[in-house]
Amino acid sequence: MWKPAEKIRFESAPGIWPSAEEAEQSLLFAPLGYQALNMQNRTWIPAMVPWRSNEEGFVTQDNIDWYQRFAKGRPGALVVEATGIRDVPSGPLLRIGHDRFIKGLSELTRAVREASGQQTRIFIQIIDFLSIRRRPVHELYFKRFLRITDRHRQALSAQDWNEDEIRQALAAKSLDELAYILTERELDDLNMGYRERVSDTHLQNIAELPQTLPDLFTAAALRAKEAGFDGVELHYAHAYTMASFLSRTNQRTDGYGGSLENRMRLPLEIIEAVRKAVGHDFAVGCRYLADECIENGNHVDEAETIGVGFAHAGLDFISLSRGGKFDDAKQPKVGEAAYPYTGRSGYECMPGYISDHFGPFGRNVDASGRIRAAIRKAGYSTPVITAGGIHNFNQAEKILLSDKADIVGLARQALADPDWFKKVRSGKGDQIRLCEYSNYCEGLDQKHKAVTCQLWDREGLDQAGISKTPDGKRRLIAP
Ligand SMILES: Cc1cc2nc3c(=O)[nH]c(=O)nc-3n(C[C@H](O)[C@H](O)[C@H](O)COP(=O)(O)O)c2cc1C
Ligand code: SF4
Repeated sequence: MWKPAEKIRFESAPGIWPSAEEAEQSLLFAPLGYQALNMQNRTWIPAMVPWRSNEEGFVTQDNIDWYQRFAKGRPGALVVEATGIRDVPSGPLLRIGHDRFIKGLSELTRAVREASGQQTRIFIQIIDFLSIRRRPVHELYFKRFLRITDRHRQALSAQDWNEDEIRQALAAKSLDELAYILTERELDDLNMGYRERVSDTHLQNIAELPQTLPDLFTAAALRAKEAGFDGVELHYAHAYTMASFLSRTNQRTDGYGGSLENRMRLPLEIIEAVRKAVGHDFAVGCRYLADECIENGNHVDEAETIGVGFAHAGLDFISLSRGGKFDDAKQPKVGEAAYPYTGRSGYECMPGYISDHFGPFGRNVDASGRIRAAIRKAGYSTPVITAGGIHNFNQAEKILLSDKADIVGLARQALADPDWFKKVRSGKGDQIRLCEYSNYCEGLDQKHKAVTCQLWDREGLDQAGISKTPDGKRRLIAP
């Protein structure tokens, strides 16, 4: 993963843990109700893909065990990982694109409710993503993938050559020479691997996204409601379709790109369609970026306007992440696909312990506070969730007391110790296993391997009845 040049090492600090009485009087453990959002406390586990599903996208026993373990810690809310809304194969990622997925998802919600004693609200993050291919072998790109155009003919002075001759001539050129011959997009396809973008409106499936996505998101939300979730989180963050619509990089010319108003059109149409279908007794929220953290991307100013627009559209919650884009991802090896968490924006999304002078703790808090303030100024009370490097009680409580957010998200800290919430609340904070922000878990995610935490995955491997990775080297669930 990308690291800031300063390379300063930070250690997670336990701060001062509250007694049980102090915790009980804190804002963090006070209930919060807003529209359909009805939380017992203000803690939140944001979505994390654990790579526990199967090739068909069904809920497996490993998925149930994973979420049940989090629920035992009794967070205020638990968001189930990014779950695909289309009925297309997508590897071992959860899917909700057909009614056949409802049964497994119902088992999951039942298991979470039971394990948390009905204390934890359970949401599911629903996602659409565009197709991406692996970085091609240089020769193969020119032989098979590149579409030959007049630009190539002109650059080679090869008006009367046949296509094969042009392909061979291009394949023999150096990268420096190709930089003058290929378009920026063609170079990117060669160096990074081809991926669809929302502005590829010459492709019918991309041109029609504004017509197809509202129905896909709506059907997925209705299935989530049937499966017993308390609500859905529309995934409008990171490198995926909806974040790309919102992004300043979206140059569509069909009314869904260019100006911020146009970029917000489809996200708002989806919110409206989903709400109309699910009614007002089911939470509809979204996760989007407080800052894309890329050159030419959205920054906090745009994110403020987006937040006000989403609050006006009646969302029950707004969860803020940052970064995580393809635009600045590292070049993948030949035969591998680009991964959106490898550049600076990826670092901003999941900051590690080697950091710049600001450090990895709470990098999204100020931006979240600005967006929340804009929403409040516009007259809306939509709860705002922030996340990023939060691991101790003082940090979390300060965020709430200083009006930077209404709910505090702990993703990796919950993975390091799913009992964080229960331990803090019962005055046993000193027993918490603090996340070190090593990003070992994120490295596993990148390789599409079962996500675990290095602080516990080798512990008690000889215990009877625990589930392990197929090689038997790591336990799958926190002790
Ligand atoms: C293994 C892993 C998987 C993740 N998967 C998702 C995901 O499915 N959807 C999402 O919005 N964010 C995802 N994230 C980002 C987290 O939700 C969170 O925003 C990020 O880790 C920063 O918060 P933290 O410092 O509390 O971990 C993932 C993070 C990790 C470590
Ligand atoms: S592996 Fe564990 S300690 Fe390291 S970042 Fe992930 S959750 Fe934190």
